[in-house]
Amino acid sequence: MSITVFRTPAEWRMIKPATGSIGVIPTMGALHAGHIALVERALGDNKYAVTTIYVNPTQFNNPDDLAAYPQTLDEDCAILEQAGCQFVFAPNYETLYPDQYRYRIRETEISRVLEGEYRPGHFDGMLTVVLRLLNVVGAEVAYFGEKDFQQLLLVREMLHAFQHSTRIVACATVREPDGLAMSSRNRRLNTAQRALAAQWSQTLANLALPCQDVRSQLEALGFRVDYIEERWGRRLGAVYTPQVAGGAEIRLIDNVVLPGQPTF
Ligand code: PAJ
Repeated sequence: MSITVFRTPAEWRMIKPATGSIGVIPTMGALHAGHIALVERALGDNKYAVTTIYVNPTQFNNPDDLAAYPQTLDEDCAILEQAGCQFVFAPNYETLYPDQYRYRIRETEISRVLEGEYRPGHFDGMLTVVLRLLNVVGAEVAYFGEKDFQQLLLVREMLHAFQHSTRIVACATVREPDGLAMSSRNRRLNTAQRALAAQWSQTLANLALPCQDVRSQLEALGFRVDYIEERWGRRLGAVYTPQVAGGAEIRLIDNVVLPGQPTF
């Protein structure tokens, strides 16, 4: 079956399969093996997979980051078709935000720390778009990656709080052979930054080092560190790569499970 792209809720109502369970995978595109692992899991659990591709402006607190975010819809659709995904939802701003973002979701605890502290407004935009996407698709199950652990917690608890009928499944972080978590932003790293990025993941994952030492080792390598902190049975961190060899600073996040703690 070739892949079908739809852009509005009305189009989806015309083509939505009448029977058979649906798994939804919300993404911002620029797909990599981490995304495809979610799609494969969705297709293993359900008859149909719907991948949503939308670079959501309301969750970008930095306009330069939004402008530089890779947009590769045709390539993404080819990769998804190859993986067996049957549907892509690729909406535009007017479709997703008929209210111009006057209505929004705000969580007041988990969203205040870590990413929430360093990216003001990010989680309001993320939760709002996820709720809207899930409402349109009406899937049985939604697939999210542990790579964005705080996002996963927030979405899980939002679905519970709003008695949402879509269930959430978490998938393990997919990594490059040297340990770097796959991310759409990795495409923007130059060769020198890519080598340093491997050290970032390896240093964060070295649980013999206390968080303070992880921070100082990364700073010695030239990283700008937002946070390295342990919470929710995880060690989580966010850094900016050094601006070496003319490359712009790229923000990277990652987390690892602590010993004896359950995986999600
Ligand atoms: P995006 O960064 O494109 O990620 C889409 C999904 O893929 C998220 O659930 C994320 O955790 C998962 N993912 C990304 N890299 C992964 C990796 N290396 N291993 C496993 N899973 C990975 O997260 C977003 O988009 C947006 O915030 C979104 C939820 C789509 C709302 O706009």
